[in-house]
Amino acid sequence: MSIQYRKAVFSDLNEIYSVETACFPGVYAYSKDLLRYFLERIDGWTIVALDSNCLIGFIMASADASKGIGHIDTVDILPAYKQRGIAKILIKKIEDKMKSIGIKKIQLEVRTTNTPAITLYKNSGYIFEKVLKDYYFHSYLDSRDAYGMVKDL
Ligand SMILES: CC(C)(COP(=O)(O)OP(=O)(O)OC[C@H]1O[C@@H](n2cnc3c(N)ncnc32)[C@H](O)[C@@H]1OP(=O)(O)O)[C@@H](O)C(=O)NCCC(=O)NCCS
Repeated sequence: MSIQYRKAVFSDLNEIYSVETACFPGVYAYSKDLLRYFLERIDGWTIVALDSNCLIGFIMASADASKGIGHIDTVDILPAYKQRGIAKILIKKIEDKMKSIGIKKIQLEVRTTNTPAITLYKNSGYIFEKVLKDYYFHSYLDSRDAYGMVKDL
């Protein structure tokens, strides 16, 4: 398996939305409008992972360069491609991009019960900073709470 990585382009939106809905059922998926906003924002980056030109995962992040703080908005991998190290590579690529523009710290939020994502972030060097009670509107995986996690670059 040879996975390719590249910066997203606007025409990736439909495939990005398909991956999002494969990862999160029903109301728990981000809307296509929100994903379009993340994709188009000028202070953000989306990197996609491809297998034979099919989009199988992505990461979306943004940064406030004036404060030196970045934020990982989401990372999704199609179920059939999970646990092959692809999300970890996407995080590394976003961190390299952030470092190149002078970002010193990356923040993110993750549902307190999302064990795969928490493991991914911990193993990528992120540490728990705080608990955010009722951070999410919907209860999913039995929780509305999030952990705020951070990493100094
Ligand atoms: C969370 C998610 C992005 C991880 O993607 P992935 O490509 O499978 O992750 P990786 O293969 O890069 O794994 C990174 C580390 O996390 C660990 N990990 C990943 N999934 C795991 C699981 N289900 N259980 C335990 N550990 C897990 C891996 O073993 C790996 O550990 P290592 O550093 O010791 O090698 C993926 O499960 C996913 O898309 N989930 C649904 C969407 C989601 O919840 N996104 C996060 C939103 S905050």
